[in-house]
Amino acid sequence: MDIINTERLLLRRWKDSDAEELFALASDPDVGPRAGWPAHKNVEESLDIIRDIFTNDCTWAIVNKETNMIIGCMGYYLHGVSNIDIGENDAELGYWIGKPYWNKGYCTEALKAMIVFCRREKHFDTLWADFFIDNPASGKVMEKCGFTDTGRINYCSHLYHGEDCPIHIMKLENKR
Ligand SMILES: CC(C)(COP(=O)(O)OP(=O)(O)OC[C@H]1O[C@@H](n2cnc3c(N)ncnc32)[C@H](O)[C@@H]1OP(=O)(O)O)[C@@H](O)C(=O)NCCC(=O)NCCS
Repeated sequence: MDIINTERLLLRRWKDSDAEELFALASDPDVGPRAGWPAHKNVEESLDIIRDIFTNDCTWAIVNKETNMIIGCMGYYLHGVSNIDIGENDAELGYWIGKPYWNKGYCTEALKAMIVFCRREKHFDTLWADFFIDNPASGKVMEKCGFTDTGRINYCSHLYHGEDCPIHIMKLENKR
């Protein structure tokens, strides 16, 4: 499914013409590093990322329906691509929201819709997600959507401090 609808948001496929809006949000150093990727350096890099990383069946732009502006990105990773040791029929969910739009409930609204999509359309068994220990807002979003802490920790090179940083691993079992 190419489009996922919520009350305030539309999740749709990325287009080349989104590059400038993507750059405006993804060039902020407070956004990407918390999700494990470096801030974009110019619009050309944002365009390359749309083409090389966002153009697939499992990545969506998050658009505010009222303004028609892109506010973030959400998607899932399958077994073999995810950094977490997930099952063959599991998926890891990932997301970010541009800083001007934080703390308005947008990520929670989008993630709830993505979970419904993953259950009804993709029939994944368990959904996974993870967040840096010093990024509690993301953990809060996961908890509000029903994820629980597995107690397992991953380590990833932290783009803020240049050293390995603990990552909480969360999961959400599918209700059958
Ligand atoms: C994490 C992120 C996606 C949250 O998006 P959002 O649209 O602001 O999320 P929501 O508004 O739905 O929910 C945020 C929740 O975190 C809470 N929160 C914000 N800052 C917090 C903090 N420092 N400590 C604890 N909770 C915090 C908010 O109060 C809110 O909870 P509430 O609704 O119970 O009040 C966004 O901040 C972001 O993209 N950050 C940078 C990239 C990133 O971290 N991506 C996720 C990687 S795992």
